[in-house]
Amino acid sequence: MALKLPRGTQDILPGEVEKWQFIETVARDLCEKFQYKEIRTPIFEHTEVFTKGVGDTTDIVQKEMYTFEDRGGRSLTLRPEGTASAVRSFVEHKMFGYPNQPVKLFYMGPMFRYERPQAGRYRQFVQFGVEALGSKDPAIDAEVIALAMSIYQSLGLKKLKLIINSLGDKDSRNAHREALINHFSPRIEEFCGDCQSRLEKNPLRILDCKKDRDHELMATAPSILQYLNEDSKKYFDKVQQYLTNLGIDFEVDPNLVRGLDYYNQTAFEIMSDAEGFGAITTLCGGGRYNGLVEESGGPETPGIGFALSIERCLAALNAEGIELPVTQGIDCFLASLGEAAKDYTVKLLHELRKGGFSAERDYLDRKIKAQLKTADRLQAKYVAVLGDDELQENKINLKDMESGNQIEVPLDTFLEEFSAIYKKGR
Ligand code: HAM
Repeated sequence: MALKLPRGTQDILPGEVEKWQFIETVARDLCEKFQYKEIRTPIFEHTEVFTKGVGDTTDIVQKEMYTFEDRGGRSLTLRPEGTASAVRSFVEHKMFGYPNQPVKLFYMGPMFRYERPQAGRYRQFVQFGVEALGSKDPAIDAEVIALAMSIYQSLGLKKLKLIINSLGDKDSRNAHREALINHFSPRIEEFCGDCQSRLEKNPLRILDCKKDRDHELMATAPSILQYLNEDSKKYFDKVQQYLTNLGIDFEVDPNLVRGLDYYNQTAFEIMSDAEGFGAITTLCGGGRYNGLVEESGGPETPGIGFALSIERCLAALNAEGIELPVTQGIDCFLASLGEAAKDYTVKLLHELRKGGFSAERDYLDRKIKAQLKTADRLQAKYVAVLGDDELQENKINLKDMESGNQIEVPLDTFLEEFSAIYKKGR
């Protein structure tokens, strides 16, 4: 039986991969402008990086991690997200001591979650994410959100909706927690098993339950915004003010909870509003996680970040009917007629490539007509045809495929000639 890839994973084939590279380049270029530096951490970590970091009442930790024991009996986990790893690395390498603060990092790579696969939800997916560690200036919250929005806007996406919320600081959260427990306790047996166990451990997560979302107590649950203390309120106001100054539209949604435990203060998601996008509309999620660095063994350090997946970004582009301007076609195809000419193209091809051009030749001993067809298929900008006679006469025929113009070029100085013609033509 033919082997198949695992459920929830995908092969990204040539033709499609160029779109991924395009998005990755846009994200990298913007990180350069916003001054976020790349960090590469391992794809697997000690399991406690995530149980502690992401939180053991979350779906990710309880149901979705790929955890295994290695041959030395250690429990390891394929990373389900990047924040816990970035924070682990921040503490391990004492980045809190770097002269440049805040430390602004970005990462891009595969993440793994054992979720039920459906459109926009994979078991292996690629996240691009940023983390800014060491500042509790609300301007950095606005910066992080602006970076996420800029990525989508640079790709041409228009149907975006930014929603933000404040989860408050510790005091606000505790007050809200009490209120939630009082609200749900009397009728908690009407809720699913997960919610029942969340009630004491983390009642905020009840608001994020997919099974019970239509229960009447959900709509009347106390909102965190009623419980924000003065500091948290001021902070949230400032974030909103900065976003407004930046011309970024947003909606405040007091029910935005986020599925990871480490959040406090600012939380946000960017959704696609495009028709036909499908059931899962969240493109990007992030927020503040002051306290996570301390919990991971470092000094008091505030942090904020976001992550988005390339998969959902592509789905959004599809839904909006946006074609990415991925470069197609090669600079030159070398066709040949005759044995000696064919041999000569091996060297010529290499020279073109060393000269900085994308170039190809035939490797299947095709007739000249079939070679020209290949050149067409490869969308060659120029086709150079070399026959044994031309080889003798030190010349080669060069055709500009766009204009149809043909000229003869000296063979021994082909690279220089080609470079000059190419530059002029573009
Ligand atoms: P998250 O909301 O779990 O947050 O994931 C962020 C983004 O990853 C989602 O908005 C979505 O685009 C993408 N994503 C998540 N699961 C899948 C999946 N199964 N298939 C495809 N895409 C998926 C985090 O991971 C946090 N670490 C974000 C963060 C960074 N917060 C602060 N810093």
